[in-house]
Amino acid sequence: MHDLNRRNFLKVAGAAATAQTLLGPNMHMLAEVQSEPAKPVAANDHIQIALIGAGGQGQGDTKVALEVPGVKLVAVADCYTGRLDHSKELWGDDIFTTRDYGEILARKDIDAVIVGTPDHWHKQVAVDAMKAGKDVYCEKPMIHLYADGPEMIETAHKTKQIIQVGSQRVSSVIYAKAKELLAAGAIGQLNMVTARWDRNSSIGAWNYTVPLDASTETCDWPRFLGTAPKIPYNAEHFFQWRKWKAYGSGVAGDLFVHLFSGTHFITGSHGPTRAMATGGLRFWKDGRDVPDVMLGLFDYPEGFNLSLRVNFVDGGEENEGLIFTGSEGTMEIAGNAVIVSRAPLEKDPGLMIGTFTDAMQTRIREAYLEKYPLTHPMGEPQLGYEKYEAAHGYSDSYDHFRNFFASVRSRQPVVEDAVFGFRAAGAALLSNLSMDRGAVVHWDPEAMKLV
Ligand SMILES: NC(=O)c1ccc[n+]([C@@H]2O[C@H](COP(=O)([O-])OP(=O)(O)OC[C@H]3O[C@@H](n4cnc5c(N)ncnc54)[C@H](O)[C@@H]3O)[C@@H](O)[C@H]2O)c1
Repeated sequence: MHDLNRRNFLKVAGAAATAQTLLGPNMHMLAEVQSEPAKPVAANDHIQIALIGAGGQGQGDTKVALEVPGVKLVAVADCYTGRLDHSKELWGDDIFTTRDYGEILARKDIDAVIVGTPDHWHKQVAVDAMKAGKDVYCEKPMIHLYADGPEMIETAHKTKQIIQVGSQRVSSVIYAKAKELLAAGAIGQLNMVTARWDRNSSIGAWNYTVPLDASTETCDWPRFLGTAPKIPYNAEHFFQWRKWKAYGSGVAGDLFVHLFSGTHFITGSHGPTRAMATGGLRFWKDGRDVPDVMLGLFDYPEGFNLSLRVNFVDGGEENEGLIFTGSEGTMEIAGNAVIVSRAPLEKDPGLMIGTFTDAMQTRIREAYLEKYPLTHPMGEPQLGYEKYEAAHGYSDSYDHFRNFFASVRSRQPVVEDAVFGFRAAGAALLSNLSMDRGAVVHWDPEAMKLV
């Protein structure tokens, strides 16, 4: 026996023993479904919105947005006729539909737009909308190219329009709780964040269904391409755009960005200073030009490291989450809960003396006990396990839209503005840059510039 500390007591108590099994879980519910009850709004006080880019996320966003009291949809723009037709099926024949989002921006009866286009259109649509006097809910990743960020920030500043970026977890009660716990010292000093997003399905790997009527008649190919390289019509590019760099931003822009938004919101950091990433196309060799496995490592100026991984070839359960590792425990965000497991470092350093002579062991032990009397040999009361869970049916997307529309009314700052959005997406896209260059890349998160 050469150890004299509490950690050893836990080990001795059984190989599988953890703070949780020893002390029992402490469960807390976070919110009664939504964090604030809906208040009715008079019809003449409705915020009138339009959707630009009515695919999977655009339609999903709009359904949630319309659950917020006092919000009315009046128009939809999309490049595929089938989605304009389905928008009428969903929201009625009265809504105005068009392929040209410019027609929507020209309307005086629209206060705000949801931008659900592919990434390569985010900047242009958002900037055009703000210049036309509309507030903007822009899907993540905010940028496709680094030059997009300053332009969007500057336009928001000049036009004084509200812009909220769509990493909805930033409005989640779970993330708010995690932020509060970290700030309160629940896990001590933060040393490391590890986050993962594992998928194991064809749809998870972006092989979205191409509709049977896809053609140059039903798809406005030039409008879809925008500033992307001019190539002949290609239905896979149109409907599975995430698989090509010309329109999407790979797993970094699609998924890392959510993990960055979460990390930045919870820690209050503005972003990493140094990044390196690797990965490859391991499984989905279907003509795509972006990896399906990516690993990224990031240095944060606050003194912690972030490690991210996305893979689309998991062979197991689909899974996403973040683990914050501190000097006194870990905090994990998984599903709709945040879990803190505390096991603070012992104040006494412990002994490793078994290889010394018996006489030396005795002498050291005596001296040690004099310096560090074992007043709490069975463990101090700081050990613990707490789980905070959102109520069943809780929706962070709803809260994100509720926050957005509250700012549209009050003109007060949103929770995820263009600066936040650029810092998250700019950090995420460092991974692509590092992979392309085969090198470590540097970023100034305050100035939001590549170094
Ligand atoms: N916040 C989230 O959790 C989340 C989830 C999924 C997707 N997203 C984001 O939402 C965006 C859309 O993703 P999606 O899965 O819905 O893609 P999608 O392909 O299903 O939809 C995109 C739609 O935009 C349309 N479009 C393309 N160019 C256009 C233009 N110039 N004008 C008008 N419409 C245009 C397309 O016709 C298509 O219907 C992406 O940026 C994605 O990163 C966010």
